[in-house]
Amino acid sequence: MLVSAKDMLQKAKAGKYAVGQFNINNLEWTKAILLTAQEMNSPVILGVSEGAGKYMAGYKTVVGMVNGMIEELGITVPVALHLDHGSYEACYKCIEAGFSSVMFDGSHYPIDENVAKTTELVKVCNEKGLSLEAEVGAIGGEEDGVIGTGECADPDECKMIADLGVTMLAAGIGNIHGKYPANWKGLSFETLDAVQQKTGDMPLVLHGGTGIPEDMIKKAISLGVAKINVNTECQLSFAAATRAYIEAGKDLSGKGFDPRKILAPGFEAIKATVKEKMELFGSVNKA
Ligand code: 13P
Repeated sequence: MLVSAKDMLQKAKAGKYAVGQFNINNLEWTKAILLTAQEMNSPVILGVSEGAGKYMAGYKTVVGMVNGMIEELGITVPVALHLDHGSYEACYKCIEAGFSSVMFDGSHYPIDENVAKTTELVKVCNEKGLSLEAEVGAIGGEEDGVIGTGECADPDECKMIADLGVTMLAAGIGNIHGKYPANWKGLSFETLDAVQQKTGDMPLVLHGGTGIPEDMIKKAISLGVAKINVNTECQLSFAAATRAYIEAGKDLSGKGFDPRKILAPGFEAIKATVKEKMELFGSVNKA
């Protein structure tokens, strides 16, 4: 059964570790992440972007697939199914479809509008028992070939949003999605510390988990990060394993046309990446 991310994040916060959010794109990724979470006895959050939801034939399909896998694979660790960077409208669609958690990314709205829309969603999510992630201070990434270096959130704005009763808060601290540019200055621990001071024991979320040095990850967790999002690293490991398999010509020989065989190395690569992250984040044996 899917659960809200609330309990797992409060436990992570108290135990000074972080729960990984791994984004899913297809059946193989989902199965690899769920099986690894079970093997590692770790709680896990499956992230679904709006684009990935569309690719997987809609949110209802995703809910059906994930619930089916939890039952058929005998997954007993806590699993939250979470909309990643959702618009206001997408949040309602996912709530309706059976997600157990949503992120409303109102960071591009003026703060008053972010507050108004987040307030509405806090009400709905509380009524239905879902967890809600809000965002303050845009988390950049590559746009038109230019990689931004990552904005820092205003700690007072973070407090305004946290006080609305959200479950977790993503605050920009110089982190970005995708690969980090060579001139990246690193995470702003000063901002992270200031945000946590203002927001009490609010679990903080670190987006852009790919490519952040291990010591920075550990320091971020020690300063209040309880959820870390990883997407690009799984994409890179999946693509590299699939490419190597195809370049070796194995898909062209014998039963090699079998899609199950072509995708098998990528499946194993995702498992290895997820395992490594769970160990780094400290969530192993915390289910
Ligand atoms: P990366 O793609 O950089 O791992 O970031 C993932 C993320 O933050 C999803 O919201």
